[in-house]
Amino acid sequence: MSDAIPKPPYGDAPIPQDYPNSMGAAIPSLREKIISEISKRGSISFPEYLAIALYDPELGYYARDSTQVGRRGDFYTSVSVGSLFGRLLAQRFLGWWETNGQPADWRILEIGAHDGTLAADILSEIRQLSPDAWQALEYAIPEPLPRLRGLQKARLENLASRLLIAESFEAISAHALPGVAFGNEILDALPFHLIELKNDVWKELHVIAGENGTLALEPRETSIQLGNSFPEGYRTEVRTNFPDFLASVTACLTNGLLMFADYGFAAPEYYDVYRSSGTLRTFSSHKAGEDPFAAPGEKDITAHVDFTDFAKTAIALGYFPSAFSSQGNYLTNLAKTLILNGGVDDTKTIAQFQSLTHPAHLGAKFHIIELTRSAEIPPEVAHRLAL
Ligand SMILES: C[S@@+](CC[C@H](N)C(=O)[O-])C[C@H]1O[C@@H](n2cnc3c(N)ncnc32)[C@H](O)[C@@H]1O
Repeated sequence: MSDAIPKPPYGDAPIPQDYPNSMGAAIPSLREKIISEISKRGSISFPEYLAIALYDPELGYYARDSTQVGRRGDFYTSVSVGSLFGRLLAQRFLGWWETNGQPADWRILEIGAHDGTLAADILSEIRQLSPDAWQALEYAIPEPLPRLRGLQKARLENLASRLLIAESFEAISAHALPGVAFGNEILDALPFHLIELKNDVWKELHVIAGENGTLALEPRETSIQLGNSFPEGYRTEVRTNFPDFLASVTACLTNGLLMFADYGFAAPEYYDVYRSSGTLRTFSSHKAGEDPFAAPGEKDITAHVDFTDFAKTAIALGYFPSAFSSQGNYLTNLAKTLILNGGVDDTKTIAQFQSLTHPAHLGAKFHIIELTRSAEIPPEVAHRLAL
């Protein structure tokens, strides 16, 4: 069984590998697994808790089944709105290929491809718009969860001219190519630390076992310090796994474009004093909650993305932000050609465009960041990211 457990893709949160699963032995619930891990070590960090709750290979939220996204699932993403999101991204990626010498061998790397729906939309559009680009393209997906790898393969094997679905980034970066690396709602799914200001000192909240199978948070000393311009009791989240994550992503490209879409803010807004209880949310059947221990494995647990921190991490790795805007602005710009050519004129596509771009739907809450090797950061981008 341990052979089937994927290597944790997010750096500092190992998934325990020694749970009993022999024939006849009862398979413990995820809560029991977590408590057993805590009893061995006294406590686990919050990222370790998330790694189990979300990615335990048997009972983790993302391993369980693939029905989390969409109307009958727990939350919507831009992908569940319809194919327009993928069609617009396809135009952007094709634009990159055309303005970068039309490489005879290029790659699109999608991280967090889930059941392959977005990949299918992108590949179909590229094939239709430019058979040459499609022929030259390898579509690559690093996917730690075996079930999702199976779904992606089944959906995509006839849509891609070359498909590479791998358990780890390493299998893809072994042969780096020029191209695009992107992810929709992947950054928010990366495990994060919880920290809280107590008597002017930042403490990290670890997960301990409470009474009667409950889980609780306990403050511990930490090296994560955000300064002292915050009110007492201020709680927030910090991701320390961006460097490992981005190093893995950029190693898959010799050169190219990075693009990530997610909900989040630049640092000044993220760490505004009014946001004193952070951005942690759980999602289940389209209802948001705030208790990460309510039903481990049955709810998504996420936190918004600090895009300033993400951009600074990328800069240290030689990728510089070239665009950062609301999803509404970004997609409206991308859609201009399609609109002018009459491609957004049926009611279904118009409705999709509105959902993706209207500020009251997904247009304002989501942001899109692009990064390239060009060290000239446009001043408005530097300003918006508070760099
Ligand atoms: C919120 S879902 C996004 C799904 C899809 N991109 C969409 O927009 O509908 C996050 C996905 O990221 C995957 N994931 C999380 N961490 C990952 C990692 N480090 N590498 C690859 N996939 C990861 C999860 O398995 C999950 O399918």
